Amino acid sequence: MVAILENPLRVGLQQERTPEPLIMVIFGASGDLTQRKLVPAIYQLKKERRLAPETTIVGVARRDWSHEYFRDHLRKGIEEFSDGIGNEEFWQSFAEGLFYCSGNMDEPESYQKLKAFLSELDGKRGTRGNRVFYLAVSPKFFKPALKNLGAADMLKDPIKNRVVIEKPFGKDLSSAKSLNKVVGKVCQEQQVYRIDHYLGKETVQNILVFRFGNAIFEPLWNRQFVDHVQITVAETVSVEERAGYYETSGALRDMVQNHLMQLFAITAMEAPNSLDADSIRNEKTKVLQATHLADINNLERSAIRGQYSSGWMKGKPVKGYRQAEGVNPESTTPTFVALKLMVDNWRWKGVPFYLRTGKSMPKKVTEISIHFREVPLLIFKSASQQASPNVLSMRIQPNEGISLKFEAKMPGSDLRTRTVNMDFSYGSSFGMATADAYNRLLLDCMLGDQTLFTRADEVEEAWRVVTPILNAWESPSDPSSIPQYEAGTWQPTEAEFMINRDGRRWRRL
Ligand code: BG6
Repeated sequence: MVAILENPLRVGLQQERTPEPLIMVIFGASGDLTQRKLVPAIYQLKKERRLAPETTIVGVARRDWSHEYFRDHLRKGIEEFSDGIGNEEFWQSFAEGLFYCSGNMDEPESYQKLKAFLSELDGKRGTRGNRVFYLAVSPKFFKPALKNLGAADMLKDPIKNRVVIEKPFGKDLSSAKSLNKVVGKVCQEQQVYRIDHYLGKETVQNILVFRFGNAIFEPLWNRQFVDHVQITVAETVSVEERAGYYETSGALRDMVQNHLMQLFAITAMEAPNSLDADSIRNEKTKVLQATHLADINNLERSAIRGQYSSGWMKGKPVKGYRQAEGVNPESTTPTFVALKLMVDNWRWKGVPFYLRTGKSMPKKVTEISIHFREVPLLIFKSASQQASPNVLSMRIQPNEGISLKFEAKMPGSDLRTRTVNMDFSYGSSFGMATADAYNRLLLDCMLGDQTLFTRADEVEEAWRVVTPILNAWESPSDPSSIPQYEAGTWQPTEAEFMINRDGRRWRRL
């Protein structure tokens, strides 16, 4: 249990400002993301009085919906996926600011129609020409949407007009560069918000506070004291109904290039000079530039892929990936990836970072663990008969918190030690659940704060690290050569070997 004292960094990371009145234009408004995440998050922000009363939402999609139909559809989403509507009067006033404008992402006329509708709304709702265009659409529409918004002069004011781009941002290094080029032609970097929802998680932001708001950890955070680092993002969910997307994506694109690389960059980066967006993003980019796969010429020593086969989850039999609907029975798409990364800089030279992520694993858990070096000489008897190095683990989700594993003397006349834990838990210290990542990210893009969004060069660096692996794995390979792990188990044995070969093992979670 940790007592809460004032934390000066918190002030900087959690700005209590209110955005200007604006229109949030959501492209892909009939989709899941809008109904499940985006609008419930905006509703919550509105409940918390974090938004200007004039805040307006315009949904754009191809279907021919009315404003009324759109409002009902969103109401159902708030009822099903968040705390509910609450006060009916409050909902009514929120619903008055919801509009729908049907349109086709490829057609310039749709953008002219939208533009006219938005200026009409400016007059009615007092939104002063401020717009956030949110591209919650399939990535194939990113370029046409950007080009059309540019051609319709809807992005020309770098302060008033912003664009939010969902993931995946590209499918490899060259496509990410090409997308960045289009972005660069129609707007300035200060207008662009590339979303990675992991950056909106409180616990991810807390890594910065933990590292740079405390004097005692940072001196140990380097090659002199750290033996290695592990980052695990394990999911219990399978591919479910997303085969169409997942088959062309796989775990490397879906999770590693974005979420895991961001967790890695925040863990490994140098201290920024300040908390402004560019200082933080400069440091993340710098550490990514110094990062590479441990052995690119010997892939099985530093990059392991896997696919879940049929198994058991929560006492029920589950199908393997290749048996899922929409998946090629000979698919080579990885649902699991483990990597060994090295960082060539003064802080980390020689310290491996082991990353792993997978679907259909036994537990949903995201954790970063810093494994410290062993004591040079063990002078006490340990209950387990072996030295147990200190481990600092940052639990991103669930049971958010931080714990430090260390040796303690066992009661008794003998000088024997046992490993114990010192724990900090968000739940018991702050007495409230952490907010959904989208609440924070949506508020930030409305405020014009880019700190928790990725910059063009940063995204490209993350792609630079993973693209050689993609290239190797996507050259035709025999489906029987893809390592399998039973659904409900941790990883293929090949991934065990990768880390065991170095005399280490995956942390039990
Ligand atoms: C998404 C991926 O970006 O992140 C999903 O596309 C994955 O496949 C999800 O399930 C995990 O997010 P979270 O917040 O549940 O860890």
